[in-house]
Order: sequence, then C-alpha cells, then structure tokens
Amino acid sequence: MFGPVTEIRDLQRRAKFRVPKMFYDYADSGAWTQSTYLDNSDAFGRIKIRQRVARNIDERSVKTQMIGRDVAMPVALAPVGLTGMQHPDGEIAAARAAEKFGVPFTLSTMSICSIEAVAEATTKPFWFQLYVMRDRGFVEDLIARAKAAGCEALVLTLDLQVLGQRHKDIKNGLSAPPKPTLKAMADLALRPQWCLGMLGTKNRTFGNIVGHAPGVTNMTSLSEWTHSQFDPTLDWDSIEWIKSKWDGKLILKGINDVEDAEIAAKIGADAMVVSNHGGRQLDGAAASIDMLAPIVDAVGDAIEIHFDSGIRSGQDVFKAIALGAKSTFVGRAYIYGLGAMGEAGVAKALEIIHKELDITMGLAGETDIRKVGRHNLLETPRPWPHNV
Ligand code: GLV
Repeated sequence: MFGPVTEIRDLQRRAKFRVPKMFYDYADSGAWTQSTYLDNSDAFGRIKIRQRVARNIDERSVKTQMIGRDVAMPVALAPVGLTGMQHPDGEIAAARAAEKFGVPFTLSTMSICSIEAVAEATTKPFWFQLYVMRDRGFVEDLIARAKAAGCEALVLTLDLQVLGQRHKDIKNGLSAPPKPTLKAMADLALRPQWCLGMLGTKNRTFGNIVGHAPGVTNMTSLSEWTHSQFDPTLDWDSIEWIKSKWDGKLILKGINDVEDAEIAAKIGADAMVVSNHGGRQLDGAAASIDMLAPIVDAVGDAIEIHFDSGIRSGQDVFKAIALGAKSTFVGRAYIYGLGAMGEAGVAKALEIIHKELDITMGLAGETDIRKVGRHNLLETPRPWPHNV
C-alpha cells in the first residue's frame, strides 16, 4: 500500500495511518499559526551547500563526539513527550534502537515509560530531560531517580515554563490514555494494531509523574499538568540550584537568542542546544537554523553547541554542522519511524539520516564530519544582529 521506505516522509505517511490522530497530531504540530514550525524546515531549504568534485572521498566517517561520548553520527534522539503513545512502550523501543545504532537517547520528563522502566530495558546510559516544576521536592526526586538509573546527562529545557497553545491538541482533546469519547473511540477503531499493542503494556500514562508526584494518582492531560505544575519563575539562578543537585553532565536546551546564549555559556554547562522547541512554543520566533551561526559566533569557543528544530534529513544535519553545531537532535524524524514501525522504524529513521549525511558529505567533497564547516556552504551567514 505504501511502497518502499526511502526517506523520512515515507515513515511519516505510515505513522499517520498507524497512530491515533490525537497522538500523530501532537507530534506534527506547532504553536498557534505554526509559522515558526513551518519556517524551521523552510529555512533549511534556503541554505545552499557547495558542490565539490574530483576529490578522493572513498574513506568517509560521520563519527564524532557529544559531550565527550563517542557517537556514530552527530545526531541524538530528542526528548519528546508522550512517545509511548506513538507506539506501545515507545520510549523503550526508541532507546533500544538508539543504543544499537550508537547515538544517545533522551527521555522526556513527560514520557509514558518511566525512567526506571527505560533503564531496566536498556544496557547503555541514556540522557534525561528535565522540566522544572513548582514543587522543587518533586524535581529533586526526579533528579535523584535519573541519577539512580545511571543517566549520563541532564538536559534542562528552558523554553517551556508555560505551554505554547497548539490548536490541534485542544480540538482533539489530547490525553494519555485517550478519554473514551465517541470521537476518540471511532478513531481508535481504525488503529487495531495500536490498540492491541496498548493492551499488552501497563505503560499508558505519564510514568514519571503518576504515582511519583505527591498525591498524583491519575493525571492524563499534559496541558493541565504544565499549567498547574511547571514553574514560571525558573530563571538563571534556579539553574544554579539544579546544578547543586545534579553533579553530572548538563545540557541547556532551548536557546534561540544570542544574549541568552551569552548568559548560558557562563553557567558552566557542558553544552547548549540551539532550539525553539520544534516551533511548538513561541510562534513568530526565528527559525532555529537562522539563529545557529550568530550563536556559534558569539559563544562557540566557550561551550559545545548542539542544534535541533526542523531536521528531517541528513542534508539538514550536514547544514547544521556546517554552520558550527557540534551535533544535532532529531525529534519528529524518529517519532514518525516509531509510529510507523516501532523499534525497527526508529532504526530505519536513523539509517536514512546516516546515509543521507554520509553521501551529502561526500558530494560536498568532505570525508570527515569533524572537518565540515562554513567553507562547505555557498553563502556565509549574515553578521548578527540582522536588523542593523
Ligand atoms: C513537550 O515537550 C511538548 O513540546 O509538548
């Protein structure tokens, strides 16, 4: 019915068919008008790579490092909320695919499978993404659980103190598990494989929260939880408090502004992720790939820079690396694979990106991803700030 899978879009089409609409839409949406969400990908299309020929490109390597860890390519799996609703035990499937491929997996605070469940089902340390809640005791407990599970890095998200409104989620009545409304039941009737898989697992709601946050025995709505629990007072001083509780590697995620990058670079973190949360938060913000070069120019010597938001191919990864990122994170690209085919689909997404990255690098005349840089792009980015 669908033909062979040769690109991420093929996985996306399959995921749309397999995954209940409310969860497919949750992944495939941006905030408000979705202008930033769409621009994140469009902006990649505006960047042109220099085509170089007649160079020996026989021996190529896309291996590199992220915060000192060897990786098979400069790609980590980004934290994505409700991953276990794209596919039964989705976080476990994605973490297993990532460890087999040799790239890091990042578990979201708002995951379905808990930190402990993922640790039990995997053999290599994964990374844990932290949202800061008003209840600092609960945050401390989450950090302690991540430590006990052997997590290698804490990825602290800074751009979601309040949730950007996503119209589709409200219209679909997003909840995990789905509430038994007529609309949801009619939709589930079209996804028998998903339903069967879900019957076979006990992981059906927010595994890091329910039964762990004081008094929370039943919590299904991401938006209600973020509204009542996420801490809008989170500021740079609070990060010092988090550092005092977490003594391992720290990655600051959600920087999309040069001034913020300059402050973040002084915190003493191991890396920062240039990101606008995949266009899911501030609609109208700049495409993150347009902010990457100015941020690298400002603080690239002081801190390792990672990138996410808009990557759907190995060409996109190449462009981010050429603009100065040491590595990237992908979210939707692997989520579509997961929704389409479970663990095998995540592996397929990683294979596709790896192959595209390797061939793109070769056609640009390069053999080592660590040597890719601005010289591989046709136009160098305009100096910052753009508006003077
Ligand atoms: C949570 O991280 C979300 O973007 O929904």
